[in-house]
Amino acid sequence: MSNFIEQVDRTHHCGELRAGDQDQRVVLFGWVASRRDLGGFVFVDLRDREGVTQLVFDPATSGEAFSEAGRIRPEWVVAVSGTVRSRGANANDDLPTGAVEVLADELHVFNASLVPPFQLIDDVDAREELRLQSRYLDLRRPEMARRLKARHELTQLVRGALVDQGFWELESPMMIKNTPGGARNFLVPSRLNAGSFYALAESPQIYKQLFMVAGYDKYFQVVRCFRDEDLRGDRQPEFTQIDMEMSFVAPRHIFAVVEDMMRRIFDKILDVKLEAPFARMTYAEAMGRFGSDKPDLRYGLELQDLTEVVRSHDGGGIGMMMDAVKAGGVVKGICLPPEHTMSRSGLDKLEGKVKEMGGAGLARAKIGDDGSWTQTPLAKRISDEMRTAINEAAGAVPGSILLMQFGPANRVHTILGGLRTHLAQKFEMVKGDEWKLLWITDFPMFETSEESGAVVACHHPFTSPLDEDVNLLESDPLACRAKAYDLVLNGVEVGGGSIRIHDSEMQNKVFAALGIDPSEQRAKFGFLLDALKYGAPPHGGVALGLDRLCMLLTGAPSIRDVIAFPKTTSGQCLMSGAPSDITEAQLKELHLKRG
Ligand code: AMO
Repeated sequence: MSNFIEQVDRTHHCGELRAGDQDQRVVLFGWVASRRDLGGFVFVDLRDREGVTQLVFDPATSGEAFSEAGRIRPEWVVAVSGTVRSRGANANDDLPTGAVEVLADELHVFNASLVPPFQLIDDVDAREELRLQSRYLDLRRPEMARRLKARHELTQLVRGALVDQGFWELESPMMIKNTPGGARNFLVPSRLNAGSFYALAESPQIYKQLFMVAGYDKYFQVVRCFRDEDLRGDRQPEFTQIDMEMSFVAPRHIFAVVEDMMRRIFDKILDVKLEAPFARMTYAEAMGRFGSDKPDLRYGLELQDLTEVVRSHDGGGIGMMMDAVKAGGVVKGICLPPEHTMSRSGLDKLEGKVKEMGGAGLARAKIGDDGSWTQTPLAKRISDEMRTAINEAAGAVPGSILLMQFGPANRVHTILGGLRTHLAQKFEMVKGDEWKLLWITDFPMFETSEESGAVVACHHPFTSPLDEDVNLLESDPLACRAKAYDLVLNGVEVGGGSIRIHDSEMQNKVFAALGIDPSEQRAKFGFLLDALKYGAPPHGGVALGLDRLCMLLTGAPSIRDVIAFPKTTSGQCLMSGAPSDITEAQLKELHLKRG
């Protein structure tokens, strides 16, 4: 028997052999994906991270190997040596190695395996909880290996693209000072400093700015970030950013770097040639046309503005709409084309959705052959003129369904934006592989926090206002726009960044607008404010969500499917049992008491 590993090396991995390798002597190591006893032979599919190769055990070739093959079970890990031969008419075209098989003459078992709790195949029907409990087995499934390989390639392409453009890869601390205000931080108690805590960095934001103050010009980092926020399909408590910062730049320079990187990624991973520059749209336009700051441009269903029509017809018999317009609000609608039909009960359900989204109701009408409105109480009240004008403005034709909202612009936009996404999913409007990338620019500087009602930064407090809006910082902060931008891919926010404030006076003004008084400013951000006084260059940057990007590129259904060891939506690791209790002694050492 060969002394595998010590003296005999593996010659190929299990995804490698092709028709041209016929008659070669080979040594493969891998896991038994399946075993079949057929007509006096044993067939084994041997799997490693790169693929699967069929092995054949023939008693006429080696009686010993044949009888050993009768013993092995799924997920046993083995070595095999043998000769490659053609499968001829039995070739399996679905398998890259399907033209050949290995006629084995030696089989060595490295290790046996318990029966796995679920089948390690692509069309797995096990619950995700079960897969996460034994993630090391789930990761053996070819689909998972393909996704993580794509993640590896993506990371290497990012590094290559940025290094080629003159970036330095530098690290920043993960245990940092707690500066409440952004996402909620995870806290780490300090044993050496009783009663004090570190925060786990939600991003390297301040540190990358300090790299610019230090004069390092172009920095990047593939970095883990931590946020204690409510989790959902595209959010994890620890996730990875492609984080970068550059000095002496305007947004266009940053866009060009990211576009070059994205083009290389799409070309290499998907063989898709992206056109650059990517589309750009202001936040105001995106909200007005799509009701979202991350519009999915793979389908239409744009929001149609009916405000002026209602105003010019003095409400046209619909008092509620005119009241909304008079109060400074808007009237907008989505026109569902005739090929997408909906029953009355379907429309009632849609109204239920609108109410879940915070709307009072859903004004709607089905357009009759003569342009009349049906299935709506508005039909009796609306004037012929306004109905005709609305049909025209909304692009409604016989069979269309008009779905309308009126009231304050923000609410109307959010509700119709949500409705737009819902309708596109319901009617499966996204077909095939299509990639729509765009930059959303000119975000507002501030917004009102839903929880506290206070003015908070939309991006973060280090973001520059637009030059032409600086005077609004004091007079009308909520109207002030920022040099902030997001990168959106197929309706998902994959990146965000801004041009930073590099002047401590301006930084003070922004803190003032946020109601952060000077003593609080010093306590939280003193080191950044000091640094800005020592020749801080104009600078800006962006961070892309590596996990989200990988999820979209691989078509994975959730962000968890591209993270090797993810947490559940309740922040747990089902495999290790984190988070877990700690002992009284540990608590004492950390100067903590149970609440
Ligand atoms: P931002 O908070 O917009 O910006 O984050 C940048 C990108 O990171 C991804 N992301 C997440 N991915 C998975 N799980 C999460 N919980 C999560 N949160 C964010 C998104 C997002 O677009 N320091 C700034 C960047 C800058 O200004 O340069 C920042 O962190 O894809």
